[in-house]
Amino acid sequence: MNQFINAQIRSLLEEEDMIAAFSNVSACIKTNYDRLNWAGFYFTKNNELVLGPFQGKVACTHIPFDKGVCGKCYRDKETQKIDDVLSFPGHIACDSDSRSELCVPIILNDEVIGEIDLDSPEKNRFTADEAKEMEQAAVDISKAWIKHNWSF
Ligand code: SME
Repeated sequence: MNQFINAQIRSLLEEEDMIAAFSNVSACIKTNYDRLNWAGFYFTKNNELVLGPFQGKVACTHIPFDKGVCGKCYRDKETQKIDDVLSFPGHIACDSDSRSELCVPIILNDEVIGEIDLDSPEKNRFTADEAKEMEQAAVDISKAWIKHNWSF
């Protein structure tokens, strides 16, 4: 359990520029959690998920709602903690090193406006505590979204 990560993320979300804030939050997650190969955001835009700020290798830029772990997270409006991505039908392998994934919806007014997505090269990498931390981060992001009047 990383007890400081949510406080750090809240402080980074005081930045009012959206790209600056999300860039720093992705760096914060990538540096606080070890054994990650990717940490970043997808945002709902024009009826699909579009890549946002991230840390890691080049990634898929557009994900349809009916595809991949990110699409399932959007449809179910629920955290997806995938312990072995190779056994998830339709997993999108942006980086072939990825073995487990944590994808958390960012919900505003009952709609998924974006997602926090984390990948690890290690199977079973993500804990239930980390899922809770990222769910708290998603709540803090939706509050910042309203406070800063962010939009696309
Ligand atoms: N693995 C995701 C795609 C995004 S990348 O992991 C950065 C998926 O299956 O939707």
